[in-house]
Amino acid sequence: MALIQETDFGTPSPLRYSELVAQSLVTLEIDGKPVTVPAGTSVMRAAVEAGVSVPKLCATDSIKAFGSCRLCLVEIDGRRGTPASCTTPCEPGMKVHTQTPRLAKLRRGVMELYISDHPLDCLTCAANGNCELQDMAGVVGLREVRYGYEGANHFDKKKDESNPYFTFDPSKCIVCSRCVRACEETQGTFALTIDGRGFASMVSAGNKPFLESECVSCGACVQACPTATLTEKSVIAKGQGEHSVVTTCAYCGVGCAFKAEMQGSEVVRMVPYKDGKANHGHSCVKGRFAWGYATHADRMTKPMIREKITDPWREVSWEEAVGYAASEFRRLQAKYGNESIGGITSSRCTNEETYLVQKLIRAAFGNNNVDTCARVCHSPTGYGLKTTFGTSAGTQDFDSVEEADVILVIGANPTDAHPVFASQMKKRLREGARLIVIDPRRIDMVRSPHVQSDYHLPLQPGTNVAVINAIAHVIVTEGLLREDYVTERCEAATFELWRNFIVEERNSPEATEPLTGVPSADLRAAARLYATGGNAAIYYGLGVTEHSQGSTMVMGMANLAMLTGNIGRRGVGVNPLRGQNNVQGACDMGSFPHEFTGYRHVSEGPVREQFEQAWNVPLQSDPGLRIPNMLDAAVEGTFKGLYVQGEDIAQSDPNTKHVTAALAAMECVVVQDLFLNETASYAHVFLPGSSFLEKDGTFTNAERRISRVRKAMPPMAGKADWEATMALSNALGYPMTYTHPSEIMDEIARLTPTFTGVSYARLDELGSVQWPCNDKAPEGTPIMHIDRFVRGEGRFMITEFVPTEERTTGRFPLILTTGRILSHYNVGAQTRRTENNAWHSEDILDIHPFDAEYRGIQDGDRVAITSRAGETSLRARVTERMQPGVVYTTFHHAITGANVVTTEFADWATDCPEYKVTAVEVRPVKKESEWQARYRETKRLTTQIAGVHDLTPAGAGD
Ligand code: SF4
Ligand code: SF4
Ligand code: SF4
Ligand code: FES
Repeated sequence: MALIQETDFGTPSPLRYSELVAQSLVTLEIDGKPVTVPAGTSVMRAAVEAGVSVPKLCATDSIKAFGSCRLCLVEIDGRRGTPASCTTPCEPGMKVHTQTPRLAKLRRGVMELYISDHPLDCLTCAANGNCELQDMAGVVGLREVRYGYEGANHFDKKKDESNPYFTFDPSKCIVCSRCVRACEETQGTFALTIDGRGFASMVSAGNKPFLESECVSCGACVQACPTATLTEKSVIAKGQGEHSVVTTCAYCGVGCAFKAEMQGSEVVRMVPYKDGKANHGHSCVKGRFAWGYATHADRMTKPMIREKITDPWREVSWEEAVGYAASEFRRLQAKYGNESIGGITSSRCTNEETYLVQKLIRAAFGNNNVDTCARVCHSPTGYGLKTTFGTSAGTQDFDSVEEADVILVIGANPTDAHPVFASQMKKRLREGARLIVIDPRRIDMVRSPHVQSDYHLPLQPGTNVAVINAIAHVIVTEGLLREDYVTERCEAATFELWRNFIVEERNSPEATEPLTGVPSADLRAAARLYATGGNAAIYYGLGVTEHSQGSTMVMGMANLAMLTGNIGRRGVGVNPLRGQNNVQGACDMGSFPHEFTGYRHVSEGPVREQFEQAWNVPLQSDPGLRIPNMLDAAVEGTFKGLYVQGEDIAQSDPNTKHVTAALAAMECVVVQDLFLNETASYAHVFLPGSSFLEKDGTFTNAERRISRVRKAMPPMAGKADWEATMALSNALGYPMTYTHPSEIMDEIARLTPTFTGVSYARLDELGSVQWPCNDKAPEGTPIMHIDRFVRGEGRFMITEFVPTEERTTGRFPLILTTGRILSHYNVGAQTRRTENNAWHSEDILDIHPFDAEYRGIQDGDRVAITSRAGETSLRARVTERMQPGVVYTTFHHAITGANVVTTEFADWATDCPEYKVTAVEVRPVKKESEWQARYRETKRLTTQIAGVHDLTPAGAGD
């Protein structure tokens, strides 16, 4: 017997389930069938359990019952009237009837009223065959409409087509309010209301077109709508799907599961998958709508080569391309040495593909010169959490937040960067959890509809460590620590050393306030709340890691969690909100130069021997070069060849001038990508990549969840990325013979203790699984460090605050910090090739009114931004979201060149660049920078030669 909570018809999480079991049960009878459910369950839900279907329109399985449509009426023995089953709670002994002549008549009457005000264009309607109104008319047996269609109706209501992805056709609306409730409960944006009363009632996005409203285009309302009122434009254009494939989003580290609805090998729409354990049927604008890039005209589908980067590209066969790349790599190794080449794995690609690239480099190149984009984002997470807890990954599953009492968001902007998790977090906040935000900007989590942080600590960029130390100082000196937890679970010696350090007066809020800019009273209050408010969970992002003290800060947060006993159960933890869809997986798969899969050092003899045996080749015991080392060595002339899969270092890595100089100095750059990206301008071989829709594999999200990626269409270029890597390896003389990615996963499982239980069969059975998944945890590990830390005892690390060397000066008096926006993803290669440009067609510089006025900058002006690394220009937005002295921009458009100004400063432990702190000056200008003029010319030539579009936004030189 299944037990299901009344207001949540989705799959209950384990704890909610056990809570329900603990509740009192009631037994009743529905249409003569006995059913037992938890007290409080609705009659409609109980009917589902009894296998009885009750007609409904305004109820869904994901939002609270509302009771407006009156279609789900039932009769109950001993009760007068016909109550709505969706809002009537079960009681012991109830005898419910769902199918009686009286109910049938009432339901037909209700449907008749709906249909009399509904256009009768079913045969040509986009929802035909997938319309609940149509279905229910059939279910209740409506055969005629007596009222005629000439009376008052809504047929002449105008469509709102402003949103690029869906239409709103009010003439078809039955005012069931499902969209309004989905926007509130599922998404948490509160963009919709029902305006007017009675016959005049109408759904409204704040009396504005959807595109101009607060709507963030998550699509939850479209999914909830039972009619064609809110409909995907892709469905209107192409019709309903004929089959579907369950797969995983290829954008961010939330890892939402989707059903790709297909017509043949064409996607019709992406529907968030209700059984997806990371998203429970929700999504954001990128995953649900921004998939058009996958078949964009700019997709490169032919391998190409050229001897010099000034030559035109020549299309060649796969054999010729990989043969040429292999011969060049071997030539370079013969001429410049074994270590003169290397490669970069992709966090956009699958685990299996990433594994193959690092295997190719270690086994076929014969060195450890492999790195990944985590170098420039979450490498400090790996270092910091491994040092303190013993594992390079977050501690919780996303659902854990449902039991958090205090949520501490540090250097993360979940509503833009991890939107589906942000919705889950906001739901918990609406239920009463408290919120502390530590961020230089007033991000949406600080204040938005129905969300109000208790404390916002607007620190100066670069002072994270001072702030986290001050919080720990308050907790220790005010005696708010969990001595019992620390004694039982953590190393006594390191804790004592750390305690002596943290209580020093220089770590107090008062002493650090002049540096951090955080009022000491607020900091003290926030520290007390974190320590005493119940389950306290930390969620953090690149605002923590991309600093010269990124690793120190990660350890500072780990200290704080151990200090307060907030590790090892639901509702707590230290949780990195990881960026790219498979950045966790890329790290797990041995993409770092010093580690094999599962974070085992290449110098560990037994581990290396295991790989040597499995791969049948001797392996090196010294760590290889990191990305910045490779680039420096290229400029110095010792590093000559690079294989880059699915990564655009010319746009994403700091100090663009240095990166491009390094690329230009190499003799063989092989780029494998969907598009001719910025790095491809410096490539000699281009191998066309495959999108997530074109291959099988797995992605691992921020909660260590391994989910299947399933092939929905054939690879446009004839090979999936794993097949291209195999071809290159074979051409290099190191044989790879996999026939399916499942065989690669089987090899990973054989060689990786935390993956021994992972297989495609297990993933198909369980849907997804969180590593470690092995004999000890065959169904995976949602929460880590429950009884003991992976390393044994938790280790406190001294986190001395060392100010970054990147200081503001008279010449560069402002601090630039960079980040992402909801509608775009990373370097924008995918999202710029979608309608998401409607929200963000260019990168903008946010600046405080005080700083703007001082410099004579008006909202919308073009401004130059200059650092000691370089100069670029973009438009300014004057906003009080910024604090004085700090400016902010995104890096989604290559022409902006945000990384032209970022510097080479980096995290001391991992070389993760300090993107978040660059000293700059800003001034109004009339035209673009010299760098931008050069970029436009190069881009014009490259795109002309390759015959693709130049996606660089116009509007410069104004
Ligand atoms: S738009 Fe759709 S979901 Fe919203 S009230 Fe109308 S019919 Fe219901
Ligand atoms: S798309 Fe999302 S944010 Fe926009 S109105 Fe619908 S539910 Fe609300
Ligand atoms: S939240 Fe992330 S994983 Fe989910 S749909 Fe959006 S981009 Fe995709
Ligand atoms: S489904 Fe119960 S009133 Fe609409």
